[in-house]
Amino acid sequence: MTSTSLNNTVPASQSTPSYADIQSIVANDFDIMDKQVFGSLNSKVQLVMSVSQHVINAGGKRMRPLITLLCARMFDDNPSEKAMHLAAITEMLHTATLVHDDVIDESGQRRGKPTANATWDNATAVLVGDYLIARAFNLLVGFQSLPLLQVFSDGTCDIAEGEVLQLQHQHNPAATEDDYLRIIDGKTSRLFMMATQGAAILQGQEQHLQALADFGQHFGNAFQIIDDVLDYSGDSDVMGKNLGDDLAEGKPTLPTIKALELLKDSDNEGYEQLRIAVQTGKTPNAEQLIELVRSSGALDYCKQRALEETRLAQQALGTLPDNRYRQGLYQLTELASARLV
Ligand code: IPE
Ligand code: IPE
Ligand code: MG
Ligand code: MG
Repeated sequence: MTSTSLNNTVPASQSTPSYADIQSIVANDFDIMDKQVFGSLNSKVQLVMSVSQHVINAGGKRMRPLITLLCARMFDDNPSEKAMHLAAITEMLHTATLVHDDVIDESGQRRGKPTANATWDNATAVLVGDYLIARAFNLLVGFQSLPLLQVFSDGTCDIAEGEVLQLQHQHNPAATEDDYLRIIDGKTSRLFMMATQGAAILQGQEQHLQALADFGQHFGNAFQIIDDVLDYSGDSDVMGKNLGDDLAEGKPTLPTIKALELLKDSDNEGYEQLRIAVQTGKTPNAEQLIELVRSSGALDYCKQRALEETRLAQQALGTLPDNRYRQGLYQLTELASARLV
């Protein structure tokens, strides 16, 4: 692995390691955390167990818990049971947001498997998602840390608000990049911030909360922008979820927002077609519209924005302890940006 000094400077580009390489930095902690994600489910209601296990068993990268584990070790290179437990709780919250998100987005595929809403129904998926959030807080109480509860309860409110804001902007072709940033800041980046800040609180490193908030926020932004680009240019088999859904749902994500802006000046007919598609969510000519977004130059702009957010996340690492765990966090941001090419 390349050694990098980050002290407030961004190092030159380096070869990107695989996700497994980064995971291996905290391999033991990761295995224990992964078992805890399953072990923490203890509902007496069989349906709750079946639905939760269905989604958790389907896989997922476990990226937010990996972030928590790397942060905890960055501050103290000893195994921390608490950090593993908190990481598992973070994944439980993430899973809940995905279960809810798939209901809202009417998605049929997640992690390469049929979604909970498709396997059971919307009501079941919503209620089990609620259960997962409740159970996560149930477990958080066990830490007997009010600061931790504060970060997680504030953050969970922000996540819910982000999803509601997104709903408000559905079918709104006038949504701006600022609107979009407010949405993703809530629905995605907040959980990244909780994953980093939670580790600092557990390790008594409150002086680093701001740097970790910056890292989590910018990394989360980059991650979501990339996800939204891949909705237009990715491979559904690789991603394990349906792609092309954002446009079909009239969701003004950054690719669409930027495409509308660019087309307005260059291709009035294309602009009108895309605007009406967002407004109505009706896309009989979906392939043509996706091609319109691709050829508009909007995806290049989004990739540029994602790279800017990645650089800001990397800069935020500059004041944190310089060790292989910080290096792992840095590499994770590089890997996320590499999904672009
Ligand atoms: C999906 O997150 C939701 C977004 C924020 C785009 P991930 O891509 O981390 O999903 P899993 O956990 O690996 O399935
Ligand atoms: C991210 O939004 C979902 C959450 C943060 C809950 P998306 O709707 O883009 O996520 P995917 O594409 O379904 O994974
Ligand atoms: Mg979705
Ligand atoms: Mg998406």
